[in-house]
Formats: sequence, structure tokens, C-alpha cells
Amino acid sequence: MCGIVGAVQTHGNVVPAVLAGLKTLEYRGYDSAGLAVMTPHGIQVRRKSGKLSALEAELAQNGVPPSSQALAHTRWATHGAPTDRNAHPHCDDRGEVVVVHNGIIENYAELHGMLAAQGHAFSSETDTEVLAHLIAHFHRNGDDLHSATRKAMALAHGAYAVVVISAREPGTMVAARLESPVVIGVGEHGRYVASGIPALLNLTRDFLVLENGESARLTPTGHEIYDARGQRVERAPFRCEWTPEQAEKGGYAHFMLKEIEEQPDVLARTAFDRLRDPEGDVAFEDEFGLDDAALRGFRRLRFMAMGTSFHAALLGQMLLAELARLPGETLNASEFLYSARLPEEDSLTVIVSQSGETADSLRAMREVQARGGRTLGICNVRGSTLAREARHLVLTHCGPEVGVASTKAFFGQVAALYMLAVRVGRARGTLSREQGQARLLDLRKLRPMLDPLFESDAKQAVEAAADLLVPVRSCLYLGRGLQLPVALEGALKLKEISYIHAEGYPAGEMKHGPIALIDPSFPVVAIATPGRSYDKMISNIQEVKARQGRVIAVAARGDRKVAALADAVLPVPEVAELLAPLANVIPLQQLAYTVALRLGRDIDQPRNLAKSVTVE
Ligand code: F6R
Repeated sequence: MCGIVGAVQTHGNVVPAVLAGLKTLEYRGYDSAGLAVMTPHGIQVRRKSGKLSALEAELAQNGVPPSSQALAHTRWATHGAPTDRNAHPHCDDRGEVVVVHNGIIENYAELHGMLAAQGHAFSSETDTEVLAHLIAHFHRNGDDLHSATRKAMALAHGAYAVVVISAREPGTMVAARLESPVVIGVGEHGRYVASGIPALLNLTRDFLVLENGESARLTPTGHEIYDARGQRVERAPFRCEWTPEQAEKGGYAHFMLKEIEEQPDVLARTAFDRLRDPEGDVAFEDEFGLDDAALRGFRRLRFMAMGTSFHAALLGQMLLAELARLPGETLNASEFLYSARLPEEDSLTVIVSQSGETADSLRAMREVQARGGRTLGICNVRGSTLAREARHLVLTHCGPEVGVASTKAFFGQVAALYMLAVRVGRARGTLSREQGQARLLDLRKLRPMLDPLFESDAKQAVEAAADLLVPVRSCLYLGRGLQLPVALEGALKLKEISYIHAEGYPAGEMKHGPIALIDPSFPVVAIATPGRSYDKMISNIQEVKARQGRVIAVAARGDRKVAALADAVLPVPEVAELLAPLANVIPLQQLAYTVALRLGRDIDQPRNLAKSVTVE
């Protein structure tokens, strides 16, 4: 949470590129924003509550001079309300040291008291301002900016990514990291820093990632990285294959819509190069690191994740049970710490996370590893903490996901988990070569079958279904078996971007309580596609109709039985049953999008949310 972008170049005005980079990070928090630029007469700072557009308006009125060194921040508030005063960057009381921060300083009250006793005067309610004063304290007493920052961070407890500049040391930028991500961009004419790669793609494609406890000193022509003990660390940059265009809207009204429509391509990118059709198997890259013998050794699986990724994890558990006959459980990563300590020797824990930076998921992964367990990360961001720390890794190749409501990342995760199920099934012999071939063919056939979901009659069906949801306060999503996680995901999408209360439920539970809510103003979205749960879902739909409830059904195109019962139908292609979640989730994403659009909601940046939840 919170986005940071900083740049220091040999020449030129870097301010527009820094602000453009910040725009790509706005999904990480958007309650206030600020910019600092180095000038020959000191550092100028502008801060504004509200979105980045409010800061841009402020800069249009009250601009900053061009500069080859700039630092910017977009905030998701932890300490202190989202006001101009609390927006970052923060300075010490002489305006010499300027800091942006992502994370929480847990002992800030103690540090605040100590500095106030020494005469420091504070102008905000944030934990971050304390850091500016603390760094300034050491800096004024003779430490260079890097050394002062290291001394200050040694006193701070909590989680942070900080970037610091000083009017006493123009041309230097210092970054430090504990838990919250920091990437460093290496360019021909400068060095750059940000909390995510997309922010720097318009400046460079070569990156380094700071590890936990590390700090860096950046100048226009060089970078030095130091470990927690202050020893120099040598690290070669890696080249990022993401393009700047992938991090842009490309003509779509919203990132969410663009990302929904990219899903057929995500399937191709995440899956097709890895399918070994003649062997009926899947070949992951080296970072997977689990051979047949290792895969045969596991007796149990555990899946952990949060939010949308948790729904993908639930599907992963079902797919692995189905194709590899391996039992498993799925836990909210935030709950794992409270679960009983069970032996880990013969289990594999799969952590699913789009960003690879979700604090709850990382904490759970580290706890499993501390208990001696093996971890496999399913992640979309190369170089993220999960991608680096999980013992084994499968990358989803979804490209950067910018919309706060996750769509294509879920799709990529489920595709990756399906492939994992085939791989493990083949290794364990629960799938023969022919059976593996058939599963891979199903996956290959899926892509063209998705096309009708993006055509105009499908969009009209979504509009008609949205008519039923726009006026209501609350609704229910029902599914069974593999369609239960899809129902949960559909409900999450609706609530997070439309603010309509939506509850996902196993359809069999309806009669055990929620049925009491059914009336004409409480619609039910029922997933009734062909397969094992179809007949029972038809019964559930009938039960809702018998109580004057209104039903939106996700059903196979041409299914007359469902059409005769439901008030609106979202038609989907009839695909292999194990892959139906990938087809069925798309109209539910489109439905949430359409309802939110009609209600005038801020689709890409819904209230109170942020992408990449880096605090527990
Ligand atoms: C919902 C959404 C969140 C994330 C969750 C986990 O649309 O995006 O629920 O899925 O915060 O994030 P990752 O996958 O980055 O660990």
C-alpha cells in the first residue's frame, strides 16, 4: 500500500516521468499525493489530499521548477487522516530532509516523544514525519544521508519502504526496505526507485530488487546496495519483459475492463508455452524445482491466500484433489497463525498471490518455512517477495494488473493451478498420458470458446442482468462444487466496486438460513452450468422462484430449462467441467463492472481499498 517513485538523473527534467510513474501506482492507495523536487535553493514540496489529479491541479496552479531529481508518493492512510498536511513527502523542521514512506512505524509514539523532548516541532499526525526528523538528527550531526538513514531505520520498528533526499546532499537518493517492496531502476542517465516495476517502465527496463533489511545509495551514475549489517552487496540487474503499454489503459474506459478483456490472452501467455501435448504433461520453468520424485513424496497439500487469490486457491485445492488425488485444505493466510501446528514433512503449501507482496500471505509463507514446510508460490510479479522467498515458484504471465478489483490475475492463477494439477497428476500416475493429453486439449480449446463472451449479445445479456442488481441493496451468489469459488468471487467483485452487499454461499446452504432473505428485492445469482451440480442448482433456482425471488443465472448458451426459470441469463460456452470456472467468472466480472458503472462508482479505485495490501 502507498506508491513511491523517485528519480535522480544526470540531466533533464524528470518531474513529468515521476508523476506519470506515480499514476501507474495509484492503485496502491489514493487518498492523497505529493511531490518533492530538488532545486539549487533547497527542496520544494507540494502535497494534496485526494487523488493524484488533485495534486496535478495544484501543480498546474502552483508549479515546481524543472529538476533532474524528484520524489513522489501516493498514500493509503494508516496514521493520520488523509489531509494535505498528512500527505507525503514529509520534511524535518528545517525542510532539509524529505522522506516518503510505505508501511507502518510501530514505535512512532516513542520516537516522537524522544524527538519532541529534544525540541523537534512536528506539523503532521503521521508516523512518517518522525522518520524525517530522526534522519535529520543524525544527518545534522555529521552522518551522510545514507548513514543517517540507516541509523534512523535501526531505531524504527515496523514495516517500511522509505526513500529519502536531502538538500545537504543533492544528487543522492537513499532507499531502505523492511517488508514493503522497493525496486531500483538502472538507466543510462539515471537511477530510479519505486514500489513497483510498472512505475518505472517509461524510464528503464533494467531492475534490481532490494531485499529485506537492505538499503541503497543512488546517484545519477551509480547505485550501491548494503545489507542490514552495512556490507556492500553486488547484484546484477534483470531485464523486465513487461512493456510500458501493458501498464496503460490502451483506449479502455477503465483498467478493469481492459483486464477482463485480456483474459483469453492471459490463458495463452500463462499456459500454452508450458504444455507438452505429446506427453500429456506440463513443463514449468526451472524455478518450479519439483521433480517427479518430490511430487510423489507429498501426502497433503495446503493452499493459502487472501481475497480473490483465496478463491483461486479454493479451486486449486479442488483441481489437485480431482486430477492428482491429493487431499488438501485452503486457509485464509491471515488465519494460519492461529491454526494448530501440524507436522509439515510430507505436505506442500501453495501460496497464491497476484502481487507477491500481500503481508498476510508472506507472513503465512514464512511461518510454514520456519516450521520446516515446503512452499510453492503462484505469483504474477517476478522479483516480488513471494517470488523470491518461496522455495518453489510458478509465475502467471498476466502482465501488470492495475485495476484494484482483480480479474485477469484470478484467471491466470486458476489456469496455473489447473496445469499444476496435471503436472502432479502425471508425476503421481493418477493421470495417464492419454488422460493428460485430454486435459491439455481442453485447455487449448478453451481460448477460442471464450470469444463469444466479449461479443455484443453477451454484453446485452450482462446489461439486462445489471437491471436487476442496480436498484438493490443486497443479493446472494450461489454455486456448488467447482462453481462455489466462482460464486464467492462474483460476490466479492460486486461488493468491492459497486458497494452493493453481495454474499457468496454454497447453494446447499441456502435452505439452512439465507432463504429467509429471499423476496423480490433480494436477487440471487445462480451458477447453473452443465456438470455434477446442475440438477441441484435447478432445484435451488426453483426454490428461489417459488418465493418471488429474482434469479440471474449463469448457464450454458441455449439452455432452455434455465432460461425458462431465470429472470436473466448470462450465457457461457459449454466447456470442459473442470475449466468451467474460467468461463463462468467472466460474465460475473462484467456484471460487477456494468453495475458499478451504472451506479457511477470509481471502478479502478474503489473507496477504502488498495491493491497489494502490505500491512497485516
Ligand atoms: C479483490 C482483490 C483482493 C486481492 C487480495 C490478495 O479484487 O484484488 O482481494 O486478491 O488483496 O492480493 P494478492 O493476490 O496480491 O496477494
